[in-house]
Amino acid sequence: MEPQTPQDRAKLAAGHKAIETYLRNGLRIGLGSGTTSHWFVRALGEKVKEGLDVAGVPTSTATRELAIKVGVPLLELNDVEELDLTIDGADEIDRHGRMIKGGGACLLWEKMVARISRRMVAVVDDGKVVEHIGRFPLPIEVIPYGWRSTERELRKVFARFGHEGMPIRLRGGLEKPVLTDSGNYILDCDLGRINDPDHLAPCFNEIPGVVEHGLFVGIANEIVIGHADGSGEVLRLS
Ligand code: 5RP
Repeated sequence: MEPQTPQDRAKLAAGHKAIETYLRNGLRIGLGSGTTSHWFVRALGEKVKEGLDVAGVPTSTATRELAIKVGVPLLELNDVEELDLTIDGADEIDRHGRMIKGGGACLLWEKMVARISRRMVAVVDDGKVVEHIGRFPLPIEVIPYGWRSTERELRKVFARFGHEGMPIRLRGGLEKPVLTDSGNYILDCDLGRINDPDHLAPCFNEIPGVVEHGLFVGIANEIVIGHADGSGEVLRLS
């Protein structure tokens, strides 16, 4: 499979740079989800065929299926206390490593896997790096039961942070809502520039119907940025 667009070439470049920078024998890796991560997992499969000895924990059923297809050995999250690193994409990331994730509806598993990783590396094409996050609607995973009530509670939190009356969409629509790998709904919250991501993030988990949210703050340690010309750079966060 060859990348078709400049953005795909940049994603592939990020995946290759991550392989070149981080991989060595014996690593236990969190395998991210989304197209950038999929380029990474494909490239990882090639390295495994050449003899690299690694194993990964997938962050979605799609990544699990791809890893099996390309021959990356898998581990179960249940059986792993700690991972050496996780390599995963992002929908937006700022220069401090604050991310919006969940465009592929995998944010819950992604956050669980990142949580037990000693290092989290975000792999992105250069179009994802922004001054302030929030242009990409923030995905929030909620349980289907009473999701409109959860939406109202979310609105109260948003209002406290100066985001009043912003559009919130049930992903997939009422007729056919998207279900996550855990059987939940996703609410896409169009906040515009997020005023205070560091303080906003912990507020969501106080709402009972919220399962997890796509604001990843204080999680990424490094960013690998891919460019369409095939080059990649690593940004280490303090
Ligand atoms: C999935 C994610 C992805 O990492 C994010 O959506 C980026 O995807 P892509 O690499 O396809 O642009 O968070 O839940």
